[in-house]
Amino acid sequence: MSSILVINGVNLNQLGIRDQAHYGQIKLEDINSLLKNEFPEVSFSFFQSNSEFEIVNKIQNAANFDGIVINPGAFTHTSVAIRDALESFKKPKLEVHLSNLSSRENFRNTMITTSKTDGYISGLKEIGYLAAIYSLLKMITQKNIN
Ligand code: DQA
Repeated sequence: MSSILVINGVNLNQLGIRDQAHYGQIKLEDINSLLKNEFPEVSFSFFQSNSEFEIVNKIQNAANFDGIVINPGAFTHTSVAIRDALESFKKPKLEVHLSNLSSRENFRNTMITTSKTDGYISGLKEIGYLAAIYSLLKMITQKNIN
């Protein structure tokens, strides 16, 4: 059974309340339930924090997981610290954004954390998380074969 850590960063605890045009109506706990229902074979650990320092600590202590899916929220655009923590995590890792960053404000095109993940999905709302887990499982399996 693969174990995957799903990290959601700053303001993502406000899903369902904040900017529904970009993020949809779904709440974070409903996204987590969606993942558990869709991938019963995965052992999930879900973590949300508005604190950069807590997210860095979580990544530093993630060595026992097979992979990470992270939506850092606005920390994507600002956090060298989360970027550096991701750099040290040597297993498959993907970044998700609910909204399509390429169609939004210019400052959202600066993506500091993304370069230290294996790839990112942006604009598919909650489907992006499903796509990320699907892809991560493929990557974990390939890694174990090679
Ligand atoms: C977001 C995109 C970020 O630019 C924004 O600050 C968020 C959410 C997304 O999921 O689309 O908080 O990460």
